[in-house]
Amino acid sequence: MALPTPPIPPIKEPEVKCTQIFINNEFVNSVSGKTFPTTNPSTGAKIVDVQEGDKADVDKAVAAARKALEFGSSWQKMDASGRGRLLQKLADLLQRDIAYIASLDVLDNGKPYKEAFFVDAGSCVNILRYYAGAADKICGKTIPIDGAYFCYTRHEPVGVCGQIIPWNFPVPMLIWKLAPALACGNTVVMKPAEQTPLSALYIASLVKEAGFPPGVVNIVPGYGPTAGAAIASHPDIDKVAFTGSTEIGRVVMTLAAQSNLKRVSLELGGKSPNVVFADADLDYAVEMSHMALFFNMGQCCAAGSRTYVQEDIYDEFVKRSVARARARKVGNPLDDSTESGPQIDETQFNKILSMVESGVKEGAKLQCGGKRHGDKGFFIQPTVFSDVTEDMLIGREEIFGPVQCIFKFKTMEEAIEKANKSQYGLAASIFSKDLDKVMTFTGRVKAGTVWVNCYNWLTAQTPFGGFKQSGFGRELGEYALHEYTEVKTVTMQTTSKI
Ligand code: NAI
Ligand code: MG
Repeated sequence: MALPTPPIPPIKEPEVKCTQIFINNEFVNSVSGKTFPTTNPSTGAKIVDVQEGDKADVDKAVAAARKALEFGSSWQKMDASGRGRLLQKLADLLQRDIAYIASLDVLDNGKPYKEAFFVDAGSCVNILRYYAGAADKICGKTIPIDGAYFCYTRHEPVGVCGQIIPWNFPVPMLIWKLAPALACGNTVVMKPAEQTPLSALYIASLVKEAGFPPGVVNIVPGYGPTAGAAIASHPDIDKVAFTGSTEIGRVVMTLAAQSNLKRVSLELGGKSPNVVFADADLDYAVEMSHMALFFNMGQCCAAGSRTYVQEDIYDEFVKRSVARARARKVGNPLDDSTESGPQIDETQFNKILSMVESGVKEGAKLQCGGKRHGDKGFFIQPTVFSDVTEDMLIGREEIFGPVQCIFKFKTMEEAIEKANKSQYGLAASIFSKDLDKVMTFTGRVKAGTVWVNCYNWLTAQTPFGGFKQSGFGRELGEYALHEYTEVKTVTMQTTSKI
């Protein structure tokens, strides 16, 4: 079944169907009886109250996930191809309900409908299909060891996997983690971000409809320091996968170390350099650099948040980038022509505006924007700074908002040195037609992903993850399967060397 192509079905204000904790294929209330509100960032108004999971609920979810893995359970006995068929079925259901799921995220996250439809939910149909196909191709090796022995490896599931995800791409963050974990035969306890629990809880209902056995997938909405920390420190969780801030990544790793040394994979922040050489196609580079930053309201870990422009074209590049930012259509994410919706919440909104203030104070040139857009919700004007340097706060720290920072460079050596002058190493890009420049830069830049004359191009097959303090481990592609398997070496004595 091919994915739908534009025009897509018109958006309807969705009825919220799932607000409870999902454990053992059942929707249940929290043990404490507590709930928390989730709000619409376009208006600041409450959408609905969601059951608030904390340690007691995580304990229940872990017990269910552990039981689902027991020797002889239907999940443990299932053929790998059977897991593949369940993932394929989940892909079908996601595709069936793509408009509804996208509309939940427009409401809960504020992202434009078209992006919620194609980029978020749509891409995840493909990712589920990729891992459905991978499930029965996870192979060990036979190894020609010394002596009269036969040696092989088995790639076994790690066990119960805790997964903690952020709010910027609610569906992709869920599926990027869920799909490889399930393909490998693990069970999952997932905590969606407190800002965006709704699409995750609806997808829980699809997990049940697809026919996954009870306990294989458990989804516990709640806050970080309670539900999230309970996952990271749980003695009976075998692995924790986290996406979010570097600060909390450190906390998660510490909790994992202090509890049971569970395996850890982290996908954290970035301050990714996007380097534009003078020989690049200028209009194209301006547009791609604009998209590299402003896509998803600047709320992307891989955002091209340091735009480096070679001095010969610098002034013209800044002029055109400012014109493009001014033309960007900010507004109601339900409207078809909207390019940017609101920021996720008031905390992020205030953080971004205070970063803008610090940029002005530290001497960067505010070329446009820098203020609230409209009079309700958490909208910010598309903002461009020129004359930014790496010692400024806006030049070194993640802003996670619609604020493009443009830096100047002269030579390749300088571009590489500046690009690498960061604690982060998630992504990088180069715009140039010169193959030598491209090869030099891609070889020497310290980043997990390098885009050449493109940006943000991620597919089911492309491994994604960070160097340095952007984290470790890889999501997507075949590499993600390594994060969800343990290697067991089996060595048998034989009667003679064979
Ligand atoms: P965060 O790192 O606090 O939240 C991400 C997830 O971690 C959420 O599910 C949250 O509930 C959970 N969490 C929070 N504290 C926890 C704890 N003590 N133990 C376990 N889990 C915990 O990110 P936040 O506050 O939403 O955003 C802050 C900044 O982080 C942003 O401004 C941005 O710079 C960065 N960020 C990066 C993301 C990425 O994709 N790499 C995504 C979201 C935020
Ligand atoms: Mg936080």
